[in-house]
Amino acid sequence: MKAVTLNAYGTPEVLEVTEQPMPVPAPHEVIVKVQAVGVNYADLLVRQGIYPFIPQFPAVLPGEVSGTIAQTGTEVQHLQPGQRVTGYAPAGYAAYTAIPAAGLTLLPDRIAPAAGLLTHSLTAQHLLEQTSGYRSVVITAAAGGVGSQAVQLAKIKGVPQIIALTGSEAKQAYVRSLGATHAINYRDTDWLRQLTDIAGPQGVDLILDATGGDTPAQLLSVLAANGTLIVYGNSSGHPTSINPQELIMKSARIVGSTVYNIPPAQRQEWSDYLVNLIATGQLQAQINSYPFTDAARAHSDMANRRNTGRTVLSFPE
Ligand SMILES: NC(=O)c1ccc[n+]([C@@H]2O[C@H](COP(=O)([O-])OP(=O)(O)OC[C@H]3O[C@@H](n4cnc5c(N)ncnc54)[C@H](OP(=O)(O)O)[C@@H]3O)[C@@H](O)[C@H]2O)c1
Repeated sequence: MKAVTLNAYGTPEVLEVTEQPMPVPAPHEVIVKVQAVGVNYADLLVRQGIYPFIPQFPAVLPGEVSGTIAQTGTEVQHLQPGQRVTGYAPAGYAAYTAIPAAGLTLLPDRIAPAAGLLTHSLTAQHLLEQTSGYRSVVITAAAGGVGSQAVQLAKIKGVPQIIALTGSEAKQAYVRSLGATHAINYRDTDWLRQLTDIAGPQGVDLILDATGGDTPAQLLSVLAANGTLIVYGNSSGHPTSINPQELIMKSARIVGSTVYNIPPAQRQEWSDYLVNLIATGQLQAQINSYPFTDAARAHSDMANRRNTGRTVLSFPE
C-alpha cells in the first residue's frame, strides 16, 4: 500500500510517497481504509521534529483520518468492517492504517469523508467550553481549520460579538460568511487599534490565540475584566512573552489548552454533538483537497498561510 513517509525532519520536501506493508491489527485495533487525511498544523511540526510526540524513522506521518473499517482486531466486538469512522492514527498518512477501536467515532453515510474529520471542530468546541457567560470572543487565524470551526460554533452558541482576526482580505470575507460579526486583517499595521475600537471600553471576554509570537501580549490589552486568554498554538513559530502583572488589575486569566486532554466521555459527547451539526448542515468546512501524492504541497501551502478552511489529502477509492 502507498503511504506518505518521513526519513528525516525538515521542509515539506522530506515527505515521500513510498510502498509500505499492509498494517495488521492488534487485538483492540481496527484497520481503516483511508479516504481522507486531515492536515493539521501540528503535522507540520511533527515533520520538522519540533512537536512533543515525534515518530522514529522511517515513519509514516501520524494524522487524523476518515474512511471505512477494513478489518477488526480479535478483541473488537462493537465495530464491523464496512462501517464509516474517523479518528487519529499513529501512522495516518497511508492508504490503510491501524487505530485503537476506542478512539474511533462512527460517521453516518450522509457525511462525506472530508467533512467527517473532527479534530478542528473538537478543538474549537473544547476552547469555547472552557469558560461561560461570555458575550464577546476574539479568534486568531479565524479562517483556518480550528478558527473557521470556532467562528461557526461561537455563532451557534449565540455569542453576540465574534471578532475574527485573519491574514488577508479574502480570509476576512470568508470569516464574515461564517458568522463573524467583525473581521480584521492582522497584517494591517493598525489592527490592534481597529480591535480596540470594536472592543470598546469594556474589552473582550474571551480570546483564543493560535499564533503565538507578539500577538497574545498585544491581545491582553483588550481583554475585559475577569476575561480569559486561551493559548492553544504557535503557528508563527516565535516565542511569546507576557507580563503576568498585567492580569492583576483585570482579575484575568491565561489558560493553555490541548484537545488531547478532553476526557474520553466528554470527547464522545462532543463528537456526537458535532457529527449531528455536520449532518444537519449547521457546521460546515470549506475543503481544500489535495491528492495524497501532493502532501508536500499541502504542507507548504499551510506553512505559507495560503490555506483557508480545512486542508485534506485524498486517497483513491
Ligand atoms: N491545542 C490544541 O489542542 C490544538 C489542536 C489543533 C490545532 N492547534 C493549533 O492551532 C493552530 C491552528 O491549527 P490548524 O490546523 O487549524 O491550522 P490553520 O489555522 O488552518 O493554519 C495555520 C494558520 O495560522 C496562521 N498564521 C499566523 N501566522 C503564521 C505564520 N507565521 N506561519 C504560518 N501560519 C501562520 C495563518 O492564518 P492567517 O493567514 O489568517 O494568519 C495560517 O493559515 C496551530 O497553531 C495548531 O498547532 C492546537
